[in-house]
Amino acid sequence: MDRMIIIRNLVKRFGTIVAVNNLNMDVYCGEIYALLGPNGAGKTTTVRMIMGLLKPTSGTIIVDNVDVVKNPGLVKKKVGYMPQFFSLYSDLTVFENLDFYGRIYGLPREIRMKRIRELMKIAEITEYKDVLAGNLSGGLKRRLGLAATLIHDPKLIILDEPTAGIDPPLRRTFWKLFLRLRDEEKTILVTTHYMDEAENADRIGLISQGRLKAVGTPREIKKMVYGGHLMRLILAGKNIDINTINNIDHRAIIDVLKVKNLGDSKTEVILVVKDFGSTLPIISSELQKHGVNIVLAEPVPITLEDAFIALTTGEMPCLKN
Ligand SMILES: Nc1ncnc2c1ncn2[C@@H]1O[C@H](COP(=O)(O)OP(=O)(O)OP(=O)(O)O)[C@@H](O)[C@H]1O
Ligand SMILES: [Mg+2]
Repeated sequence: MDRMIIIRNLVKRFGTIVAVNNLNMDVYCGEIYALLGPNGAGKTTTVRMIMGLLKPTSGTIIVDNVDVVKNPGLVKKKVGYMPQFFSLYSDLTVFENLDFYGRIYGLPREIRMKRIRELMKIAEITEYKDVLAGNLSGGLKRRLGLAATLIHDPKLIILDEPTAGIDPPLRRTFWKLFLRLRDEEKTILVTTHYMDEAENADRIGLISQGRLKAVGTPREIKKMVYGGHLMRLILAGKNIDINTINNIDHRAIIDVLKVKNLGDSKTEVILVVKDFGSTLPIISSELQKHGVNIVLAEPVPITLEDAFIALTTGEMPCLKN
């Protein structure tokens, strides 16, 4: 797949602080990539270097085939960038703010008017057209900021914590818009520390202390915690022998996390399996050979938060009873 952003061995030091520590990262064309990490992880520093606003200590950054470190000025026109703290002109109206940003990008009047109309509609701020930006609520300011970011119809959109501090319905509205932009073949790099919203991204990069700890689809990242899917089984059969389970094809079962006697000839087992759907029939037929029936089989969900903690600190999620 073509890559919109290529980052290699990127380092940024502020005095003794290593804000970005040997980062390697690729953002593919047409995907939503969420850089997910806690406060101080290095998200904003990374984004500012991608934008050519901050010079790396070392390493390379290529954006749409342009070397950003060598040509920091070339990137800005290609990208729609919404900084963590976007500046609007509080003494200009919603319309005037958008018009101002349109002029910065040198859009001719006719195109500007068309874009402003479209974007006000998309961001649902048309009715506030003549309201001073300074008088808008926080959520509306954020919508206006996003509209201004998109004014020049950039193919790469970089949003630094666009949803921090806004309410869940507006967060959802924003993500619907991101998905829509992705469907229009835009590439989106979005930073966030909200685990739940990162689930909407095509791929996630987990960043902690300036290092990328894991990269993958939300599903892949959850799978990384145990190296497979979790399967909870309730088995029925007298004297279930742990060896019966341990002797099942090792290509199906990666690990046995829990075996608990529930009484009444029932046993609960939690397994790590290669894949829930395809391994269940194998396990079922193996157990039946030993007179053991599966009464219940269900996947054990792992949240992205579990995965994040496990992959950054090594602390495994607790498996509830
Ligand atoms: N200009 C600067 N001078 C000194 N230290 C800085 C500077 N900018 C960032 N840092 C430090 O670099 C580290 C990474 O900061 P950064 O702002 O990139 O994190 P972040 O992931 O964006 O966090 P947040 O979620 O709070 O926005 C932090 O330790 C921060 O204090
Ligand atoms: Mg930040």
